[in-house]
Amino acid sequence: MPVYITDKSGRTDAQIRDRSIREVAERLLKLVDKTDHNLSILLIDDAEMIRLNSRYRDKNVPTNVLSFPFVDGADASVFSLPIKELGDIIISIDTAAGEAISGQQTLFCRLTWLITHGLLHLLGFDHEQSKAQALAMEEMENDLISRLHEDRSTPMTHLAINVDHIATIRQARGISEPDPVLAAAVCELAGAMGIVVHLREDRRHIQDRDVQLLRQTVKTKLNLEMGAAEEIINIALTIKPDMVTLVPEKRQELTTEGGLNITGQKKKLAKTIAKMSQSDIPVSLFIDPESKQIKASHDIGATFVEIHTGRYCDAKNEKERNQEFELIASAAQEAFDLGLRVNAGHGLDYRTTARIAALETIEELSIGHAIIARAAIVGLEKAVREMNDIVKSAANGNQ
Ligand code: PXP
Repeated sequence: MPVYITDKSGRTDAQIRDRSIREVAERLLKLVDKTDHNLSILLIDDAEMIRLNSRYRDKNVPTNVLSFPFVDGADASVFSLPIKELGDIIISIDTAAGEAISGQQTLFCRLTWLITHGLLHLLGFDHEQSKAQALAMEEMENDLISRLHEDRSTPMTHLAINVDHIATIRQARGISEPDPVLAAAVCELAGAMGIVVHLREDRRHIQDRDVQLLRQTVKTKLNLEMGAAEEIINIALTIKPDMVTLVPEKRQELTTEGGLNITGQKKKLAKTIAKMSQSDIPVSLFIDPESKQIKASHDIGATFVEIHTGRYCDAKNEKERNQEFELIASAAQEAFDLGLRVNAGHGLDYRTTARIAALETIEELSIGHAIIARAAIVGLEKAVREMNDIVKSAANGNQ
């Protein structure tokens, strides 16, 4: 079932990837039982779409998708041809990208819908004919899209919580409370599917004792974040967390600042990955959403990559945020296509998380600051009431 894709859109910003589009088209052909047919998909820009829309539909405006069935206007002899053709789906990437932004979707999601819609037109559905036809087409679209999602090859995105900040509060007093080990248990009780801690070389928050105890108490999955320093590598090999995430670590930074430069230290990281894999510890590499870092992570044998979401979260305006989101979506897709498992995190909060969690290629989100910060605020009232009860009760002579 060859799917022919021609990209004349001239866009490089959206990192449109033929392979993902082809895969969607091939899966759709299977679902509609047309694997013995050829399909052509042409990606163009708005200027070309205006030209086609005005020539074939007398409308001098761009549109998102046009479909041209092969048999339209053809004489009966085409039915006896040995090759079966469905026809052409023509998509304006400019319009699709605009629609993706206003619908808060990835461009890939939007293209999936447009290919589905275009294919149904090629199969004879036409929403412009009548209300009943529009309904039938919409039902079929929804059915096909949900069946595409059923084949989703990564499980639902889940939440892992980074409890470093609990340790930061404890270290501010140098005493034993609050305990990140207890906090981790509360997070798991509330539904977290993993616990993350960063054992830094300077031990500014998480201590060795925390990691040792967490190894015994965490019921879900313990992910140890760490720099690739020998001392910490040896601790990881002794404690054996469920996985490690390698991050760049600088003494002066307040938090992890950027992704690892894998291309610049392939040998060193490959050695660390090999050591971990001898102890059956999968390794994730924390990287910026860049193709060269993904390829290098794959080359040196990482099991996971964690895509840095910081620039998306810190974006100064919607345009910048949408651009950063597209970079994350395409990086996650590229890593997934290479067979890497994909996590994401850093800076995610109650406004920025949903869009990332909706990406089908992402398995786990690692979130710390926003959750601990919110806990401090939403839990403050209860904490004050409890102390006030003690004060009032004692003042009334009841101890
Ligand atoms: N992922 C990595 C690799 C990190 O270093 C951090 C911060 O410790 C996080 C995720 C979580 O970031 P945040 O605390 O901003 O949610």
